[in-house]
Amino acid sequence: MTTVYLNGQFLALEEARIPVMDRGFLFGDGVYEVIPVYDRQPFRLHEHLARLQDSLDGIRLENPHAAAEWENLILRIVESADWPDQGIYLQVTRGQGPRDHAFPKIVHPTVFILPMQLSPPAAEAVERGVSAITSQDNRWLRCDLKVTSLLPNVLLRQLSVDADCAETILLRDGQLIEGSASSVFIVLDGILLAPPKTNLMLPGITYDVVLELAAAASMPHQVRPISETELRQASEIWLTSSTKEVMPVTKLDGQTVGSGQPGPLFRQMHADYQAFKHRIMRGRSVA
Ligand code: PDD
Repeated sequence: MTTVYLNGQFLALEEARIPVMDRGFLFGDGVYEVIPVYDRQPFRLHEHLARLQDSLDGIRLENPHAAAEWENLILRIVESADWPDQGIYLQVTRGQGPRDHAFPKIVHPTVFILPMQLSPPAAEAVERGVSAITSQDNRWLRCDLKVTSLLPNVLLRQLSVDADCAETILLRDGQLIEGSASSVFIVLDGILLAPPKTNLMLPGITYDVVLELAAAASMPHQVRPISETELRQASEIWLTSSTKEVMPVTKLDGQTVGSGQPGPLFRQMHADYQAFKHRIMRGRSVA
């Protein structure tokens, strides 16, 4: 049985209900986070809660909980779930109101926390790489907010499903932005490149971890705008996210990336990422 948290109650997933007048349902008026948990230890929890605060500020919704309260709620859900490795999904919406675009006068936010089983990326994907396609980014101009109105991301992601690919990589005005549900890195001339954080992309928590690990390993790296041409010339392309960790792309729009195999910098980063995760699990320290 999966236990979830909904508005002050811990209950079975099957019993959790929200009213149809919830603005999350009517307007997608809410924000969310996905927090990876390894061996019941939340990974980068404080960073996820800080990004949640930024998303709430961005949609002008007061945070219903202090950080310590969030931590308690999340840890109770983590303890109750069957699996040691989890993706904790949490969502805050602007609650119920009449169907009117304008905010209700008095807001009672809806708070929902759901544990999901987290499986490590498939060995085959890590060993052989995955395929991706590109598409023009047709989302709004606040992609830095982690909002539940994900219809553009859903439609963009489905393009890659239809093409039997793992991700849709988004381009805007000739620049690499991110994936439909991931951050994107490339390797060009032996240098790891990451697009800079702007209003057009989600500030990925895994993106930060990868840049920290690159610095710790003295891997040459730069944060700077990346053109579509550079993306297509890259010797390596990586996707990163809380659920994918670091994933190599070996085919882009049907063209082979680099040697067609996951590259040497990916192999090093993958090993460093796994070692980092295991250190945290052993050390029980907040990473
Ligand atoms: N998605 N960019 C987008 C558009 C994303 O949806 C995500 C994550 C990322 C990577 O962010 P992070 O490293 O913090 O997970 C980048 C989550 C996992 C999701 O929506 O399921």
